[in-house]
Amino acid sequence: MPSVILGRVDEFPPGTKKSIRASKTRVLLVNVNGTFYATQSLCTHLSNPLFTGKLQGYHIWCDKHWAAFDVRDGKVIELPEGMEKLEPLKTYPVKVEDSKVIVEVPE
Ligand code: FES
Repeated sequence: MPSVILGRVDEFPPGTKKSIRASKTRVLLVNVNGTFYATQSLCTHLSNPLFTGKLQGYHIWCDKHWAAFDVRDGKVIELPEGMEKLEPLKTYPVKVEDSKVIVEVPE
């Protein structure tokens, strides 16, 4: 798993939700109260980008049909209306080293 530097910690203040390319994977990087999480960048429903959605606590809301996911583990919190099941988001390990935010992605 390659480790990819996404940037300096101060580039991503609390409340950040940003889509960033890390090697061959595009991730959604979020900062919740100083802790970083990375998930896949697109909603598992119809692939809407999640960075435009609303971040509320640990939950990111897709602004297309209002699915919501927990950024800590990708779990589905809210389903789009009329749906009974939705795939969770993939998540990627994030660490901070020397004031840099580093994500581990598959390749
Ligand atoms: S594309 Fe995200 S809820 Fe439909």
